Amino acid sequence: MLRITSCRFLLSSTDVKKMGPHPAFEFAFIGRSNVGKSSLINALTQRKNLAKTSATPGKTALINVFKINEKWNLVDLPGYGFAKRSKSEQQKFTNLIQHYCTERHVLTCLFILIDIRHELQQIDAEFITWVVQHQLPFALIFTKADKLGKQKAEAQLKYFEQKLNTILDEAPNMFMSSALYNTGVSEILNFMGHVMQVPAHE
Ligand code: GTP
Ligand code: MG
Repeated sequence: MLRITSCRFLLSSTDVKKMGPHPAFEFAFIGRSNVGKSSLINALTQRKNLAKTSATPGKTALINVFKINEKWNLVDLPGYGFAKRSKSEQQKFTNLIQHYCTERHVLTCLFILIDIRHELQQIDAEFITWVVQHQLPFALIFTKADKLGKQKAEAQLKYFEQKLNTILDEAPNMFMSSALYNTGVSEILNFMGHVMQVPAHE
């Protein structure tokens, strides 16, 4: 399994051009405000406070970059679709996210996070459609699985699979996660290791 032996905060930016040199690999986390992006980054790196989490939505307003094993990056992107932002502010966030996704050519995989508890939201469906149109590499992570029982969580996963079938040609990689219980952490790390072709013993 891929092992994270070191991680550190690298930089924050609102400008993709100022994100520094391209590493060999970069994985980014995106999704609605409060879906659990920062919490998942902490779970994956086994740090309590590497990425700042908050019960107040809209906390991450910058692109936050973390350097892993001194080799590759994890990126915490601002959340989209936060209702309490003004229209022009929403647009600013959307522009930043879209700019990152299309200009950061090193992007290895975009993890799109979706709260497992709800129906597929229009804003998520729209974002996934946009990502597919731009041919960006992506995977889906259904978060906060601990808030549902095992059976209900599995049923929700099936529901999303069917629902997404109508907007996607191919079934995407999908994971279920809980930052509280580290659910899905080894699967997601394995997937990243696989994408980076890290030898199994490393
Ligand atoms: P923004 O930066 O505001 O866009 O939010 P975010 O997507 O980074 O969410 P964050 O990780 O800050 O988590 C938001 C809230 O959800 C916090 O109160 C977390 O403790 C909680 N949370 C995140 N992941 C989980 C999870 O897997 N299970 C449970 N029960 N709560 C979670
Ligand atoms: Mg955050």
